[in-house]
Amino acid sequence: MENSMVKLAHVVKRFSGERDAAIKDISLDIKEGEFLTILGPSGCGKTTTLRIIAGFEHADSGNVYINNVEVSSIPAFKRNVNTVFQNYALFPHLNVFDNIAFGLSLKKVDKLEIEKEVMEMLKIVKMEGYEARMIDQLSGGQKQRIAIARAIINNPKVLLLDEPLGALDLKLRKQMQLELKHLQKKLGITFIFVTHDQEEAMTMSDRICVMDNGLIEQLGTPEEIYEQPQTKFVADFIGDTNIFEGVVCETHNGLCSIKLKDGQVVNLIAKNSSMEDTVWFAVRPERIFLSQEPIDKGCNLSVHLKERTYIGSVLKTTVTLLNGREIIISEPAANRFAFKGESDKVYINWNLDSTVVMKS
Ligand SMILES: Nc1ncnc2c1ncn2[C@@H]1O[C@H](COP(=O)(O)OP(=O)(O)OP(=O)(O)O)[C@@H](O)[C@H]1O
Ligand SMILES: [Mg+2]
Repeated sequence: MENSMVKLAHVVKRFSGERDAAIKDISLDIKEGEFLTILGPSGCGKTTTLRIIAGFEHADSGNVYINNVEVSSIPAFKRNVNTVFQNYALFPHLNVFDNIAFGLSLKKVDKLEIEKEVMEMLKIVKMEGYEARMIDQLSGGQKQRIAIARAIINNPKVLLLDEPLGALDLKLRKQMQLELKHLQKKLGITFIFVTHDQEEAMTMSDRICVMDNGLIEQLGTPEEIYEQPQTKFVADFIGDTNIFEGVVCETHNGLCSIKLKDGQVVNLIAKNSSMEDTVWFAVRPERIFLSQEPIDKGCNLSVHLKERTYIGSVLKTTVTLLNGREIIISEPAANRFAFKGESDKVYINWNLDSTVVMKS
């Protein structure tokens, strides 16, 4: 069993004067060497969670463990955790060398040892030769690398990264995502990474913790989060999806028939559903296919074509249900459905295992 590196148990945090708690009740177990991303919209409590782990903020109740030690009474500087902030927080009056050396200098480490370590860090972040530069002579991406070098020179057990790539342009951002991921695997340090960008979270993480409104909505691998969203919030937040609402009108052999709001009926695999239950389910746009006639598998709906748009290699089609609700379909452009005749009336179909039933 892998060692637990950071563990939160029922952590609650309310800022004084605020009506709602910023962190309502969070439990989370992060393994040694794991790359965990906290993903969620602005204000959901990501930074507060990191600050509680780092020791800059105290929980009102609940426990925080680092490497199996309860750390509530241990100050930030003794926690063996380092933080990379979004604005880098580098020292503008020091050059690159002194910025990276800062932590070791404080600890009064031997000068030759510091020099050796700093050079090693510069090599790791691919910034050899820049040691004499001042911070304002660096590009955004270079500053980012120096901030990371400064944070890992102390050899922390855990590195906390709060939207560290937010200020970079898209191309550099993508490059830094891969570099950071490689660096993390090479060093074996546990990374807790914060972002509100779902694609970034999918690219980099071993597991993603989706947060909303001070609570964890779902914790899982990128694939689980995308393919099996457990709540409407997660399904909506992670990529495009189509969410349907209906009422169980028949149950038979592990399947049930759901009457949608537009009156049409589809089949679902929905365990534990009884008659008259309201059910929410999601189908990803790339799991839906179009046809001229219904394909009889109990997962087809009559729709009207509204719009088709090319976006690079995929063709995005919008159709409407009988009550006007829009459904999005995404097809590979090279392999698209061709409309015959004049009619805009077509069918959308999916396989039974393409539907994900959610907790309401
Ligand atoms: N010092 C503070 N005093 C009062 N309220 C605060 C304080 N810090 C944060 N909050 C509130 O706590 C909630 C969570 O804030 P937090 O900074 O953790 O969000 P976040 O998920 O990091 O958002 P963003 O993506 O915008 O950085 C917000 O409603 C915020 O207004
Ligand atoms: Mg934040």
